[in-house]
Amino acid sequence: MKIKILTLFPNMISGFLNDSILKRAIDNQVCSIELIDMRQYSLDKHHHVDDTPCGGGAGMVLACDVVDRAIEANASEATYKILMTPQGRPYQQHIAKELSSMEELLIICGHYEGFDERIRSYVDDEISIGDYVLTGGELAAAVITDSVIRLLDHAIRKESSEDDSFSNGFLEYPQYTRPIEYKGKTVPEVLLNGNHKLIREFRLKESIRKTYLRRPDLLENRELTSEEMRYLNEVKKEEASQ
Ligand code: ADE
Repeated sequence: MKIKILTLFPNMISGFLNDSILKRAIDNQVCSIELIDMRQYSLDKHHHVDDTPCGGGAGMVLACDVVDRAIEANASEATYKILMTPQGRPYQQHIAKELSSMEELLIICGHYEGFDERIRSYVDDEISIGDYVLTGGELAAAVITDSVIRLLDHAIRKESSEDDSFSNGFLEYPQYTRPIEYKGKTVPEVLLNGNHKLIREFRLKESIRKTYLRRPDLLENRELTSEEMRYLNEVKKEEASQ
């Protein structure tokens, strides 16, 4: 997969690409990432990319011609173009999954004071990473990039992303590692006895418990298997008697 990011602040993103799983994925050619400074598409001799708002008002507005030229120069037929904006569709794991099957992504970082409305017509998608406003789309583009790359084959071990929170509609089950006992708190016994059937059942039930306690909204529109329903009922009873 190829990911290109159009930004006014490439340095904001480059740091996070140079470390950890993302760096390994790039080094192993699982994906390539290109940071493109949108300023080079300004025709202005001072490389201005924004201008004052038509109709007046405070702040500067990212100009549509600069973004259009940047997109034209960096997208092909196969490119899926995404604009980062708090007005976009709320980002969720299933969108990360959709994006991870694309050949090429072009992510356009918005501007902290706003962008020309016409830019919306140049893209295939608009995504928000949450109901808050960042100074620009760079951190949001980094979030998309990170969450997509870790789903690519060979970026991380497959089972590791299959167990993710949200990937099966529930939050992930609790995890433990050594020491078995620490400051009076112990690892649940069932995880220590090597009985894989019991471990699977424990994990499913605790995954359902976490979801019920922390994100009951995730259970609302979800069909449950009879096993899941049984655990949910048990969890409800147990939590009510706490
Ligand atoms: N740009 C500024 N805030 C944003 C947000 N919440 N999501 C995506 N892009 C943004």
